Amino acid sequence: MAKKVIKRSWAEPFKIKVVEPIKMTTREHREKAIKTAGYNTFLLESEDVYIDLLTDSGTNAMSDRQWAGMMVGDEAYAGSRNFYHLWNNVKKYYGMPYFVPTHQGRAAEHMISQILIKKGDYIPGNMYFTTTRLHQELAGATFIDVIVDEAHDPTNEKPFKGNIDLKKLKALINKVGAKKIPYVSIAGPVNMAGGQPFSMKNLKDVYKLCNSHKIKLWFDATRAIENAYFIKTRERGYAKKTIAEILKEMTSYFEGIWVSAKKDLMVNIGGILATKNKKVFEKARNMVVVYEGLHTYGGLAGRDMEAMAIGLNEMVEYDNVRARIGQVEYFGSELDKYGVPYVRPVGGHAIFLDAKKILSHLPQDQFPAQTLAAELYLDSGVRGMERGVVSAGRDPETGEHRFPKLELVRLTFPRRVYTQAHIDVAVESIASVYQNRKNITGLKMIYEPEYLRFFQGRFKKL
Ligand code: F0G
Repeated sequence: MAKKVIKRSWAEPFKIKVVEPIKMTTREHREKAIKTAGYNTFLLESEDVYIDLLTDSGTNAMSDRQWAGMMVGDEAYAGSRNFYHLWNNVKKYYGMPYFVPTHQGRAAEHMISQILIKKGDYIPGNMYFTTTRLHQELAGATFIDVIVDEAHDPTNEKPFKGNIDLKKLKALINKVGAKKIPYVSIAGPVNMAGGQPFSMKNLKDVYKLCNSHKIKLWFDATRAIENAYFIKTRERGYAKKTIAEILKEMTSYFEGIWVSAKKDLMVNIGGILATKNKKVFEKARNMVVVYEGLHTYGGLAGRDMEAMAIGLNEMVEYDNVRARIGQVEYFGSELDKYGVPYVRPVGGHAIFLDAKKILSHLPQDQFPAQTLAAELYLDSGVRGMERGVVSAGRDPETGEHRFPKLELVRLTFPRRVYTQAHIDVAVESIASVYQNRKNITGLKMIYEPEYLRFFQGRFKKL
């Protein structure tokens, strides 16, 4: 008798020591809650959420080592020992000698945009991120998307859809001149494209081109570990390199980085601005005292910096990132059983449901992704977020909605928080909403704040 092929599974490289109860609610309760929240999942009270896939930002479970680190916080106003632990690890893992802590990523984005950008400049980047682009625009720049076309196609299976299209970048340099481009803004993986990575080869090519025009590269390294994982598993020549080695090679092409530590570093708060450029560092170190706090704490407690320093050691462990992306892959393969369309290939931090396709009967100005996120919450208490026309905001020139090609609902995985059973529950809820999709009606926006409207905008059922 032929031997049966036995599947060998993977599992998380940790076990659970502390648990936090979550509440299950009735549909009736959720109907009231989402109406009160103006059909915006950002405005729900988290007590009313069952499985929270809104974001992986600051929602991570810290390790026992990180919690132990919290107890050795040195809360001195100046020169906290935890600052020096963190600085050492920033040098060690990102290879950047100069460092300023910030309370979160957008504070670093704000400072670097103000320091590097002059009014009338252009910032090319591999697709926009909401807060990043806003800070670049507030500093007087125009953001130009130079990502490869495949990034805008949810069905395209190319492994590096976060790559920069060199032709688009060259065309921009020729059009506006290198002097008007203070830096290229590169993120990896690309959040708004579905967590799609760039390849090392593409990064090297972009570096070569920019170097010849004396244009610097700056890296939004918020989820750089996931990009390093994809390079290791998808790009020729990297299978045997460690995550830490790949990260170091990536950052070597950049003049500097900003990081929302609330992601890769598996903490609840924190940000990093780090660079090789001493002049830029000196400006940032001066600016941080205006907006955040002294340059040895940058809006953080000493204990937060210690948790970040330990988080840096943990983030480069292969088994951690493998289990993280393994969860997202499992989610995708379960959705495939029901034929639910989502952005392919599976990205680093989240599954992005293709709301344009799922609610194809709704025009984009009825906010299909906003609608789908609300419907999913109604069905089961699973919370995701809109990543479509609401997130894209309005064109600062024309005041019109920016209609992005991608109209998505993001279901994001906090690190080390949910189990495979939670994923099953979420998948089954999505499958039910998908089956019932033809009966779903759209939304009308009834309140729109000036900046980052997806956070606080309110809607009404049509
Ligand atoms: N860059 C990227 C790629 C991000 O995903 C975020 C935050 C930031 C910068 C800003 O960092 O939140 O610490 O100020 N992303 C969160 C998300 C909000 O849900 O994707 P922050």
